[in-house]
Amino acid sequence: MRRAVCPGSFDPITYGHLDIIERASHHFDEVIVAVLENRTKSSLFTVEERISMISEVTKKFPNIRVDSWSGLLVDYCKSKSVQSIVKGLRAVSDFEYELQMAQVNLQGSGVETMFMATSPTHSFLSSSLVKELAHYGGDVSSMVPPTINEALKRRVAGK
Ligand code: PNS
Repeated sequence: MRRAVCPGSFDPITYGHLDIIERASHHFDEVIVAVLENRTKSSLFTVEERISMISEVTKKFPNIRVDSWSGLLVDYCKSKSVQSIVKGLRAVSDFEYELQMAQVNLQGSGVETMFMATSPTHSFLSSSLVKELAHYGGDVSSMVPPTINEALKRRVAGK
């Protein structure tokens, strides 16, 4: 089975992430969206909330499933028989860091990283930008699915 992982923080998932995940699902038998459990990084949504939100917005795709992991991504890949990591590249500024990670991940583990060009519609999008806009009452409805938009509104209102 050709299995890929789309890893990330997804705090929260955006249309940019979804674009890459959906397109990746056409090239693999199974795509795992893996949420990093990072205890050192503060987040707006808990890992459980993020998993639930991602599951909701990907439920129409039968070969996409959602999981979480902690530690090295390549160890997770080995434990789940994942051969490929899929990442989106928005701009040249993403490339240097992503190349470094892809090379570290390849060396020693043999897990390949496949880069997909982000759709131009989403090239400026990031979870940080969405959170900042939402925090100041900006309209993020074109950047995240409706359920995520509602969750963001509730969270910035302190609920
Ligand atoms: O959405 P993000 O925060 O940009 O995603 C980054 C992520 C989680 C994909 C990356 O930081 C990662 O893979 N972290 C796990 C630790 C690891 O394996 N690092 C790479 C080798 S040093």
